[in-house]
Amino acid sequence: MTQDIYLTGITTTGTPHIGNYVGAIRPGIAASRDKSKQNFYFLADFHALAKNEDPAKIAQSTLEIAASWLALGLDTSNAVFYRQSDIPEIPELTWILTSMTAKGLMNRAHSYKAVVQANEEGGTKDPDKGVTMALYSYPILMAADILMFKSTKVPVGRDQKQHVEMARDIAGRFNHHYGDILVLPEPVIDGNTAVLTGLDGRKMSKSYNNTIPLFADEKKLRKLIMKIKTNSLEPGEPKETEGSTLYDIYRAFASADEVSDIEKRYAEGIAWGEMKQVLFEFINDHIKPAREEYKRLMDDPAIVEEELRKGAEKARKVSAPYIAEIRHAIGIRKLG
Ligand code: TRP
Repeated sequence: MTQDIYLTGITTTGTPHIGNYVGAIRPGIAASRDKSKQNFYFLADFHALAKNEDPAKIAQSTLEIAASWLALGLDTSNAVFYRQSDIPEIPELTWILTSMTAKGLMNRAHSYKAVVQANEEGGTKDPDKGVTMALYSYPILMAADILMFKSTKVPVGRDQKQHVEMARDIAGRFNHHYGDILVLPEPVIDGNTAVLTGLDGRKMSKSYNNTIPLFADEKKLRKLIMKIKTNSLEPGEPKETEGSTLYDIYRAFASADEVSDIEKRYAEGIAWGEMKQVLFEFINDHIKPAREEYKRLMDDPAIVEEELRKGAEKARKVSAPYIAEIRHAIGIRKLG
């Protein structure tokens, strides 16, 4: 059997928060160090365009995300870490795939349907209001990301599963017409990866505005943790760990022994104020070394740029010869 190739993309919108860290960055970095695995990680900056962010925000987010992964110890000697827009073969493959993707397939994408549904519920006359072609054909760009590097496994959140299945459908259709050229990928949904609770008790998410930025400075980190919602039990009263955001976040960072110590302190009635202090110190100690490295990288973006340049060079060793093969197969050829 040939070796699996893992590939995952991070859309460059927003500032990484501790929910991203626990759910995607931490497992991604662990995998990057596993010499038995071939991993591709990339910054999906063309995908960010579909979200209509302002240019300065896209650029800032690209730097913040890249600096975060590097500061936390991504092994770029083993994994390939690059920026989507540095690989010209990706938009090229996107167009080729667009030419053979049924419109009906795109009509079924959850990401598009959600916007149409919101428009209909909002009573807007045009169900496609605010839908750009980038949003509509987003799954084709994502298919090109995946197929360009012959990936077999695509670790994603549940909301992206359908997109990976679409990439598989598109590849199957391509191969049916042109021969066995593209590799069929499958989604990998890790049921164990933690979904972190946010400041208000809902899932931590940029869209709920309830996040704790991963590299918030100490003062900000303390302030945010002090804002976490608790119930009104008094100090000394035994407390449940279930449904406690403080506990959920603590557990996402702690070892099994540390978790059982905290469970004991809940049962003994630890005061919420004290638990907040414990959590703050715990996360702060955990993040501090990487935070210093993050700051160094943010102050000197040329270091990050150079990492991405090297990553793109490695990535294009795969994509450049492969696109030549794909072009030939579809009849885009030298004439003599
Ligand atoms: N669409 C993904 C998200 O929003 C990001 C992404 C872009 C991606 N291209 C990809 C993920 C390719 C996996 C593979 O989370």
